[in-house]
Amino acid sequence: MAKPHPTGESLLEPEAKPEEHGKQEEGLRPRRLNDYIGQKDLKEVLNIAIKAAKARQETLDHLLLYGPPGLGKTTMALILADEMGVDCKITSAPALERQRDIVGLLVSLKPGDILFIDEIHRLPKVTEEILYPAMEDCRIDVVLGKGSSSRTRSIPLNRFTLVGATTRVGALTSPLRDRFGLIQRLRFYELDELTQIVLRTAAILNTPITTEGAGEIARRSRGTPRIANRLLKRVRDYIEVKASGAITQAIAAEALELFNVDPCGLDWTDRRLLAVMIEHFNGGPVGLDTMAAATGEDSQTIEEVYEPYLLQIGYLNRTPRGRMATPSAWKHLGYQPPDSQLALLS
Ligand code: ADE
Repeated sequence: MAKPHPTGESLLEPEAKPEEHGKQEEGLRPRRLNDYIGQKDLKEVLNIAIKAAKARQETLDHLLLYGPPGLGKTTMALILADEMGVDCKITSAPALERQRDIVGLLVSLKPGDILFIDEIHRLPKVTEEILYPAMEDCRIDVVLGKGSSSRTRSIPLNRFTLVGATTRVGALTSPLRDRFGLIQRLRFYELDELTQIVLRTAAILNTPITTEGAGEIARRSRGTPRIANRLLKRVRDYIEVKASGAITQAIAAEALELFNVDPCGLDWTDRRLLAVMIEHFNGGPVGLDTMAAATGEDSQTIEEVYEPYLLQIGYLNRTPRGRMATPSAWKHLGYQPPDSQLALLS
């Protein structure tokens, strides 16, 4: 059973850690659509969009990618740029605080370039309003001067593609959302897709691994490639120090137990959320805000970071009366679900 990590650090957080922004990480990203494993529907939609845009010698439509963190939104923007033969500038909404931040970026784009804005639901209003005419008419309207002598100047831009990424599509204003020609969701990866990703990364890192070893890492990675690659690196460290040869299923399981990674990828907070539901609320139904108060977690974090995976693996149900822990969750935590709960869920 997984315990909290002694330092409080979790290997299972889907957000990128600072050390995961370096050159080595870049080398692990697939560069072309054909090398990208998983997200079949999204790839099909984008493949058509790329081919059509190329045939018409046009730029790609603006694209909004949404879904849980760590599933490959940035990677997809970089692939699109590669496939279209253009450059991609990467930024994040909180870095676009002042009008001049976004204006500087927009005027620097060459014809067809991609501008990737992460966490686009967090754009400040001034920035968002600059984007409207930029996305629609390839121009920006900047206000020069102050007070009664101020005037608006329109600056033409090169045609570009905005790729926005968000974990909270519902938090975008509708004028912004409506300006995207394509709105696509990324889903958690299936076990076999994550296994292939681990095998691919291991090959790039020159780390021998069996398919079963990769499967064991995949099973504990919360459907998230970023976590799978992170766990692979920790298991690679483990085998270099403690053993030799290829990463087998037994070695992967042994290493990940040591790092407190649960067999189905639950971390301390997931387990606590489920335990509080079961122990304090008889498994639910319980409202999100009540859960937040009872666990000391932020309700938005529960909803965006923890719940999607618990829903995905069938440990949590959302009902009109609140959240419920499913019988699988009771059993996973070592409890027998009472008949009253089984009746509520059937
Ligand atoms: N590395 C991380 N995500 C990947 C993906 N979707 N396909 C291939 N390699 C990856």
